[in-house]
Amino acid sequence: MVFLQHSSLAAERRSDFPILNQQVHDRPLIYLDSAATSQKPQAVMDALDHYYQRDNANVHRGAHALSARATTAYEGARDKVAAFIGAASRNEIVFTRNASEAINLVAYTWGMSTLKPGDEIILSVMEHHSNLVPWQMMAQKTGAVLKHVPLTATEEFDLVAFEGLLSDRTRLVAVVHVSNTLGCVNPVAEIISRAHGIGAKVLIDACQSAPHLPLDVQALDCDWLVASGHKMCGPTGSGFLYGKLELLEAMPPFLGGGEMIHEVFLDHSTYAELPHKFEAGTPAIGEAIALGAAIDYLTAIGMDRIHAYEQELTAYLFKKLSQVEGVRIYGPTPEQGERAALAAFNVAGLNASDLSTLLDHEGVAIRSGHHCTQPLHRALGITGSARASLYFYNTHAEIDQFVAALESTIAFFRDMGTV
Ligand SMILES: Cc1ncc(COP(=O)(O)O)c(C=O)c1O
Repeated sequence: MVFLQHSSLAAERRSDFPILNQQVHDRPLIYLDSAATSQKPQAVMDALDHYYQRDNANVHRGAHALSARATTAYEGARDKVAAFIGAASRNEIVFTRNASEAINLVAYTWGMSTLKPGDEIILSVMEHHSNLVPWQMMAQKTGAVLKHVPLTATEEFDLVAFEGLLSDRTRLVAVVHVSNTLGCVNPVAEIISRAHGIGAKVLIDACQSAPHLPLDVQALDCDWLVASGHKMCGPTGSGFLYGKLELLEAMPPFLGGGEMIHEVFLDHSTYAELPHKFEAGTPAIGEAIALGAAIDYLTAIGMDRIHAYEQELTAYLFKKLSQVEGVRIYGPTPEQGERAALAAFNVAGLNASDLSTLLDHEGVAIRSGHHCTQPLHRALGITGSARASLYFYNTHAEIDQFVAALESTIAFFRDMGTV
């Protein structure tokens, strides 16, 4: 009964995504790459279209009607993001092009102005490159030291090892909420409270959680949180940074230019109030407005409902995939720990990119490679993997078709004597 109730979500929403209704290599498209970027519902494309057809003008500047409309819609989108993640104030939301830019913003402002030689930054081995490289750059510039939380035997975040790394030198803990490769849901509430216990700040990479489960930054008490709009039904070029008001106020600006100033003199400037201090130049106005439409769309469905449906779909994917001979799925089993809507895997004796190329010919879009987690792949002793990632528009039938296509691909390689 519950199964039927949740299953209706994809059936109910699928027609909102016109791109899904197409043939690829003469097969119906099965899109299993939403962790890289999600598809966009018609409502989001309509919002983008509406902005460019009716309201296109620069924001915060003109006295004319179009600029006023664009500004209202752009700032309205900020309200929607704030409400979506439970921020205490709209001024705690900074629009960025993506999550990487949001992390770089924190690194280059807070990191650069705060970190001293010997200060410690704790990351984990499962971080996306976007949450590794900016901190490496900061460590090189400031003399701060990077420490990395390893994996447990079940390929999850090692909370015990994390506690062992915390010290009076720890200034920052920056960790991913849901791993884009292991699929594990990290215990961020515990991580945050333990880090705060020793006075460290915490940044949460919510790229793979914000699209899939309800978030409440005030309940979590994180200091910063970043997400990509394009993974949560929004357009590319959209992302955001959440930061606690007092922290954002204390942070120096990131990029300089128009929009972020209060007064400019020839030799110095004063800066705008939050959040504009961090939004130099003309922002991605249409994209932010369309991200607001994406949030309206997700909220209308309900993040609890999306999460519940995806839990069921993920368990089904895990079960079907693990029944395929020779398949090794990375990360915990659903019995060992909560998994989000993706599975990275390898098939014994086969190259992941050969697999994904052949699956593409069956209309199945999965990703292969290192998924921007090279250190994690190294820790797992592999150079790459294949990854199937889901969203609420995917169905159980698509998982069946994917697994059937995978089995016939493996059989093809076996017949050729490759496996
Ligand atoms: C966990 C995680 N963090 C960060 C990123 C980077 O996001 P963006 O490409 O929007 O900067 C991704 C994208 O794949 C991700 O999965």
